[in-house]
Amino acid sequence: MTSSIHLRARGLRQTYDLGETQLRVLQGVDLDVAKGEVVFLRGASGAGKSTLLYILAGLEHPREGTLEFEGEQLFAQKGNRQAILRNRRMGFVFQSYFLLPELTALENVILPAMLGGLPNKGSEAKARELLDRVGLSGRLDHLPSQLSGGEQQRVAIARALVNDPGILFADEPTGNLDATTGAGIIELLLGLARQDGRTFVAVTHDPALSALGDRQLYLKDGHLEQV
Ligand SMILES: Nc1ncnc2c1ncn2[C@@H]1O[C@H](COP(=O)(O)OP(=O)(O)OP(=O)(O)O)[C@@H](O)[C@H]1O
Ligand SMILES: [Mg+2]
Repeated sequence: MTSSIHLRARGLRQTYDLGETQLRVLQGVDLDVAKGEVVFLRGASGAGKSTLLYILAGLEHPREGTLEFEGEQLFAQKGNRQAILRNRRMGFVFQSYFLLPELTALENVILPAMLGGLPNKGSEAKARELLDRVGLSGRLDHLPSQLSGGEQQRVAIARALVNDPGILFADEPTGNLDATTGAGIIELLLGLARQDGRTFVAVTHDPALSALGDRQLYLKDGHLEQV
């Protein structure tokens, strides 16, 4: 057992069929992420950053390769077990917030906790606490359409944390926001991860922001390079 390793990827390959040809996006990616480590992933548009992050979070299956998550082979798990691991032990923040439009901020944050089996009372208290931590205690009953982009992303961050995941993934969480709001979101995520000792793996285009992590990786020609 290698208890300090949170995530271990070996030989990840991903190709997409484009009619006659194949698009080789990942061509043998190896990656170890330690518990509590903050890793930023950079690379040109189309380099495969989102593809890699989705695979690391078990949201997409690679053509080849293995992924060990907290000592378990993620892709070897039966579908249901994989979904449970994702729901309870991983948090994901997307570029688009993917909030449910008919639910309030508070309800959006509570939802994954209920799916994760936390009792109602406990999940509501947890959701309120997290919305407070992201500075939205005054917006609990707002619908997503009544929130700014930055506020919606902060709801999405609270939602990603409600089941207390050991690892948090973020795919360009600042992509749809202005520079100042975007930098604030990354700093918030980083602070939340550091305070709680969570592992954090995030894609960003911003070299200054990615310098705040423990490690920066650059994806190029299907391979990861250390910056
Ligand atoms: N499901 C798919 N089918 C076919 N091609 C795909 C699919 N998903 C991604 N691609 C292609 O794979 C390449 C990598 O896509 P990906 O979204 O991982 O890039 P990225 O590095 O995240 O780019 P960006 O910085 O623009 O978000 C792109 O050329 C994209 O068009
Ligand atoms: Mg992307």
